[in-house]
Amino acid sequence: MDEIRVEEVTLPRTQRYTDSVFPSALELRTPASISRVVEWVADQRERLLGMTRQHGAVLLRGFPVQVASDFDALINSLRVENFPYKQSLSNAVRVNYTERVFSANEAPPTVRIYLHHELAQTPMFPEFIFFFCEIAPEKGGETPICRSDVLYERLAQSEPQFVQDLEAYGLQYTNVMPSADDLNSGMGRSWQSTLGVASREQAERRLEDLGYSWQWLDDGALRASTPPLPAVREVSPGRKTLFNQLIAAYSGWSDDRNDPSKAIRLGNGQPLDPRAVQCMIDLADALTFDVRWQPTDVVLMDNTLAMHGRRPFEGSRRVLASLANMRTHGPVRVPA
Ligand code: FE2
Repeated sequence: MDEIRVEEVTLPRTQRYTDSVFPSALELRTPASISRVVEWVADQRERLLGMTRQHGAVLLRGFPVQVASDFDALINSLRVENFPYKQSLSNAVRVNYTERVFSANEAPPTVRIYLHHELAQTPMFPEFIFFFCEIAPEKGGETPICRSDVLYERLAQSEPQFVQDLEAYGLQYTNVMPSADDLNSGMGRSWQSTLGVASREQAERRLEDLGYSWQWLDDGALRASTPPLPAVREVSPGRKTLFNQLIAAYSGWSDDRNDPSKAIRLGNGQPLDPRAVQCMIDLADALTFDVRWQPTDVVLMDNTLAMHGRRPFEGSRRVLASLANMRTHGPVRVPA
């Protein structure tokens, strides 16, 4: 096998913590074919997944990943279980390119997608989310990423009661799903597609299985509320993260059908304290690292440890995503 040289590099504005950096980055220093790189990834699987869990995000730069099928092959060689978009309760409209690879979000360029843990607002979520940049945007379009364990620590210092409430009660999310995909919204996936059903009866059965409550609206849309889901997750002993979609739901669940002020509340039904939420948003902003995409970039993320979003952009941008290792959480037993 040809020698392949990959070096750890430090990106501008990399964050340093006691036992980790954010993000970690590896750069390919020798020319190599995609098949050679796929072999290398298979060989380095333990190390790469270990780094992802330790640091939260690992950028692979300069690897010859040109198209969706290259990205698919690279992820496949990590030997992690695919979590297909079709089976997820994601509210984003996405297009599948391969079995494992889909467009991150079809929402228009002007739509900002706020920081979130992928699918933390549903009972089933992926342990890993992987991104690949096929076409870099001309302007904007960075992927903001944020370490949620650091955010937990800072928020617990600033707003201890709020964090206690989140841990005790969890969060309940409400969203309105249209009766047909709405490509103008970041959360425009139809209820049929979201729930994987064809009729209202099937939808109701599925929602009942999931422990959701619901209401049919006059225009055929469906308003659904989750049971109380955990808002904090212990990812390893003593290491807690704000594993939820609080910021995204509170700031960004907005379209013709959805009003962010009604999208989220504590699991005991109480509204969130706006001052504490603003504190969380400000702390997260200060902890955000922006991934400035270059074509062929791949980012491996531990979805339980770090959040991601999308900045608005101009021009064309194609960032594809892949999810792996389905996990489940909730519902929270809310104390009386
Ligand atoms: Fe996402």
